[in-house]
Amino acid sequence: MRLNTLRDLLLIQLKDLYSSEGQILQALQHMAESAYSLDLRQALIAHIKRTEHQISRLEIIFEKMEMQHNGEWSEGMEGLIKECRIYIRAEGEPHIKDTALITAAQKVDNYEIICYSAALTYARELGFDDEAQLLEESLDEENTIHKDLINLAKGGFFSAQEQ
Ligand SMILES: [Fe+2]
Repeated sequence: MRLNTLRDLLLIQLKDLYSSEGQILQALQHMAESAYSLDLRQALIAHIKRTEHQISRLEIIFEKMEMQHNGEWSEGMEGLIKECRIYIRAEGEPHIKDTALITAAQKVDNYEIICYSAALTYARELGFDDEAQLLEESLDEENTIHKDLINLAKGGFFSAQEQ
């Protein structure tokens, strides 16, 4: 890995994000299928749609910057997704399992918020204004997802939403 310039650092963050979004896209589908609460399932499906948009934005950024986006694997996201899969496969009380899925999804979302925040800072510093705008849109979406998950966790989401 080469780490000589802020551009190198931006590229590393963008590749980590691209890998992360692709990894979580698959896991979210399984999480949505295993969710007991309708509200949680809908929130996870909405997260899938946002993730697809975020992947498209990253591809636009790579193209604009004439960078390759393949060949990287996010080790950080892999660990978080392993935790998601443990809860997907878990047996037990459905509402408790849903709460575990929300917590796992929050960890994923917080990881992405940090990565987007860092990439946005680097892009702005380097004068990549169009790229920064796209990163800001994705960061705003991640913050919305974060708030939605908090509301689900706080709001007794399972009260009347069983299958
Ligand atoms: Fe995302």
